[in-house]
Amino acid sequence: MSEKRVVIITGASRGLGAATAHWLAKKSVKLVLNARNGELLEKARQECQQLGSEVLAVAGDVGDLEVCQKIVSAASDKWGRIDAVVNNAAVIDPIGIYTNVDMEAWSRAMQINLVAPLYLARLASPWLLQSKGKVVNVSTGAAVHPLAAWSAYCASKAGLHHLTRCMAVEQPRIIAVSLRPGVIDTAMQDQIRKDGPGHMPPDMLQYFQQLKETNRLEPPEVPAKSMAWLALYCPPEWNGEMIEYTDPRVVKESAAVFGD
Ligand SMILES: NC(=O)c1ccc[n+]([C@@H]2O[C@H](COP(=O)([O-])OP(=O)(O)OC[C@H]3O[C@@H](n4cnc5c(N)ncnc54)[C@H](OP(=O)(O)O)[C@@H]3O)[C@@H](O)[C@H]2O)c1
Repeated sequence: MSEKRVVIITGASRGLGAATAHWLAKKSVKLVLNARNGELLEKARQECQQLGSEVLAVAGDVGDLEVCQKIVSAASDKWGRIDAVVNNAAVIDPIGIYTNVDMEAWSRAMQINLVAPLYLARLASPWLLQSKGKVVNVSTGAAVHPLAAWSAYCASKAGLHHLTRCMAVEQPRIIAVSLRPGVIDTAMQDQIRKDGPGHMPPDMLQYFQQLKETNRLEPPEVPAKSMAWLALYCPPEWNGEMIEYTDPRVVKESAAVFGD
């Protein structure tokens, strides 16, 4: 059943996106992967192909409408269906308080973290309606907690969750959910530790440094399994919800589908 399905994943060259692609590839789900760095993306594409799936890569900035059109056309031209869009690509920068933040970088973050997910869901909607498809928007605790120096990230992710809720009421035939993936050992956390000093409150920076030093960051494979399951099987009655990656309903079902 899963081998017929077609899933789009943005930000799939590394971290959570690449790990989600790996779980789906093991189930022979057909994939369209996107990220800006074409070399890393091609590596991720080949890895998924070796795991047993047919995979297309579309490199480019997801904040660009034309790139989103190419991503959706790649899937629909090749396979004539789309079963899920996983809006995973995001940026944490600019890090710094709003009174002196780089305004262009701030609006770029909005474009990537909030506008691009709408572009992709909108463009893929004719196929998602046919397939009773899913949109999984990757959220974060920062969507509900105001974290100093992260206004672009917090506001864009808060907007993304509210967009998810709006999508659920506007078009209930497409299942849209937000996923909170925990704090994950990825390049985004490296960047927080690297760019935080001098820009983030010292106690906040120390919290993130200690998570790394004490091995409390989650490996991407763990939340990725929940994300892969939601992309394939999210039940309609969860439409509009914010789901924790540790939600027992998801953990049990995803272990049954993907194993350990
Ligand atoms: N890491 C955490 O602790 C954490 C916690 C909560 C939520 N999240 C969320 O989890 C998701 C994945 O993050 P991650 O931790 O895996 O981060 P990551 O390692 O930095 O990966 C981000 C991915 O997005 C891509 N990307 C960034 N900007 C893009 C753009 N404009 N167009 C296309 N692709 C773009 C990156 O590739 P290129 O740079 O080559 O484009 C990369 O593949 C994000 O939505 C993030 O907000 C992460």
